[in-house]
Amino acid sequence: MSSTVISNIASLVTNDPSLGDRSPLGLIRDAALVIDGDRVSWTGESSKAPATDNRVDADGRAVIPGFVDSHSHLVFAGDRTEEFNARMSGRGYSAGGIRTTVAATRTATDAELETNLVRHLTEALRQGTTTLETKSGYGLTVHDEERALRIASAHTDEVTYLGAHIVSPDYADDPAAYVALVTGEMLDACAPHARWIDVFCEKGAFDGDQARAILTAGREKGLHPRVHANQLSYGPGVQLAVELGAASADHCTHLTDADVDALANSDTVATLLPGAEFSTRAEWPDARRLLDAGVTVALSTDCNPGSSYTSSVPFCIALAVRDMRMTPDEALWSATAGGARALRRTDVGRLSPGAYADLAFLDAPSHVHLAYRPGVPLVDEVWRRGRRVA
Ligand code: NIG
Ligand code: FE
Repeated sequence: MSSTVISNIASLVTNDPSLGDRSPLGLIRDAALVIDGDRVSWTGESSKAPATDNRVDADGRAVIPGFVDSHSHLVFAGDRTEEFNARMSGRGYSAGGIRTTVAATRTATDAELETNLVRHLTEALRQGTTTLETKSGYGLTVHDEERALRIASAHTDEVTYLGAHIVSPDYADDPAAYVALVTGEMLDACAPHARWIDVFCEKGAFDGDQARAILTAGREKGLHPRVHANQLSYGPGVQLAVELGAASADHCTHLTDADVDALANSDTVATLLPGAEFSTRAEWPDARRLLDAGVTVALSTDCNPGSSYTSSVPFCIALAVRDMRMTPDEALWSATAGGARALRRTDVGRLSPGAYADLAFLDAPSHVHLAYRPGVPLVDEVWRRGRRVA
């Protein structure tokens, strides 16, 4: 197994609080990192780095764990430029726009869907994302949901069945029959390709009772729950996520004190998706309130053609710091270790011995520049499983 030392790193974020400055980021200055095969085997001060076969000079750049984007919707066709344009001229966002993408996705071939997925995965990778969750939810038939998950699972391990995105237009007059399909034949076809099950618990999508039935059925088939919760309005999503032991409640834009308390006393991560509030001109989720209550917060893109068409985690970090009152350290942690928690992963989102060597070099001396220099393409080099990939 070949080993490589990366030395002369101005600042290294390990996300291991037993290392470096002992903060949650486990920051080591003037650092080095050793990779054996696909894993990190050593981190410490550059001057103490062991000799290895290969040497890479970071030349004073910062190194951070690759981003863990724990929420995206990348199996789709078409785009929604007109809808975005109308919104920026004053129209509001509603879940109804999902139907436009459903229509385009159903008519696309498998090859077209896969090409579009790979295009967006490559775009995300170039911006530092080395682990990415993605969902179905733009098919809403047994055939179209199954093929979305099959295509996604060829490219990522983190695949989520979201047949319950909205009630299929084919069942507009009989939502109960659609829930029966989602929990029956569609679930049977989809479960073999997915790790997670998700539901959009919202007015105009699925209510609390429907969402509970869907997530419970998924759990019986071995899928782990996560929930689109409290995005557009107050509602039962967050409490349901906690009740069912979901890995994550995603969006969390409209929360009561009881919702915040429930999250704080649970293992459910609150995943914040500021790209959605940006692109829908909605109010920001209050990250500070969640963090101060002791909730574990993840930060992800929600990349999708309707509510948040960005694959850029650095952009989301800048928004979170500027508009959601997160510190640059908290935002970086949430976009790496937080995303890993939201996917119940311990092998990614950190750069301490034993973790996968998934990392990004920044063209900057510190991760703080991700928020300090918004919009600047600072991700310089990306490594996944110990090898340079972008
Ligand atoms: O997470 N909220 C539900 N689903 C997506 C939006 C999907 C769309 O508008 O196409 C979201 O924001
Ligand atoms: Fe989403």
